[in-house]
Amino acid sequence: MPDSFHVPTRDLTLPSDQDASGRTLGEEEMALVAEAIRSGVLTSTKGRMVKGLETRFAELVGSRHAHACASGSAAIHTAIAAIDPEPGDEIVTTPITDMGALTPILYQGAIPVFADVDPRTGNVTAATVEQALSDRTRAIVVTHLFGCPAEIGPIMALAQRRGVPVIEDCAQAFLSTVGVRHVGTIGTIGCFSLQQGKHITTGEGGLVVTDDPDLARRMYLFINKGWGYGDPKPDHYFIALNYRMSELQGAVALAQLDKLGDGVARRRAMAERLDDAIADLPGLGTPRSPIGATHSYWKYPLIVDPETVRGGPVALGGGLKDWSVASAPRYIQKPAFECAVIREQRTFGRSRFPFSLARPEAVDYAPARFPGAYRFLERVLVLPWNERYEPRHVDHIAAAVRAKHAELAGGLVHG
Ligand SMILES: Cc1ncc(COP(=O)(O)O)c(C=O)c1O
Repeated sequence: MPDSFHVPTRDLTLPSDQDASGRTLGEEEMALVAEAIRSGVLTSTKGRMVKGLETRFAELVGSRHAHACASGSAAIHTAIAAIDPEPGDEIVTTPITDMGALTPILYQGAIPVFADVDPRTGNVTAATVEQALSDRTRAIVVTHLFGCPAEIGPIMALAQRRGVPVIEDCAQAFLSTVGVRHVGTIGTIGCFSLQQGKHITTGEGGLVVTDDPDLARRMYLFINKGWGYGDPKPDHYFIALNYRMSELQGAVALAQLDKLGDGVARRRAMAERLDDAIADLPGLGTPRSPIGATHSYWKYPLIVDPETVRGGPVALGGGLKDWSVASAPRYIQKPAFECAVIREQRTFGRSRFPFSLARPEAVDYAPARFPGAYRFLERVLVLPWNERYEPRHVDHIAAAVRAKHAELAGGLVHG
């Protein structure tokens, strides 16, 4: 425990990313929004905010191209559409993710095929992805859950051997790194979300990045109804939506971008403080980044061993409420394939398309095939985290965890 550990009080209110207390929205955002309004141009097809955001984000993460769009789900949809699967093609992905990362696969007529995850991190691995590949695999989506980078190196090696593009879902992983590279720039396409609770926010919003000029062009077109703005003879070249980000959101995002580096540094520093404060508690851990990688702590997940901590994450999370510390046992509660849309194949009318085209094995969700996912959900307790946390907040969380752990793991900790 650090020397400067604060005396705990039970009623401290933690900053929340659901309101101003845990966000960095301020004068800078207001000034740029005012500038956008004064300009009278609120669409990105004519304005400068979204274009500025795209240029600066590409520079920041080290990618040749970036395009902004309406949400993280739109970003994933844009990436899948750029890869342009044939109906019934398979996209290997994770069952531990937001539904917004999965329904775009179905909208593009492809089948999500689930790879199991490492129960210590909730991330897919090269070994689990390999088991899910088939000769119909058209892309692999790798999610860096909670900001902890997946083992992208071995996954890239596998994908390259099989000639399959990789989409990195970085909705939760702004500025996480693997070696010298930011996540999102290692795979073929990177996708980000600017939703209310993400590292930076415009309320809703998304970004895609790639080094590939053809994919960048297809993504730009997909966000813009397939219309070739600026071409000598523009047309609607293919089926696509209006997924544009408005200039108002672009203005907020531009200002937020200046705050991202400090925000991530703050999240890391506070996470290290919590690591140190609870390191001695048996039966508790947190996902560690692979060697040479850095975590950006969208959330701080605890992995709770129910054999040591009685009642596991549910009991610990319940106990933390007494200290006004919110937490989410089981994260998304169940693997995504147990949700009605996938399990009951509720898609377009009664067609079940594209599931109607699936190999039986691709839609076999027998629990025995996903031991890592079930084990992870049984053990994970997600603590909210944000860049406004100060040492006193983290010390409060640590005190709460220590007190409840003492009750639930009784007799195992001394001193
Ligand atoms: C891993 C992941 N992918 C995709 C999304 C979808 O992003 P959005 O909510 O901005 O549509 C989220 C959002 O929570 C997410 O966490």
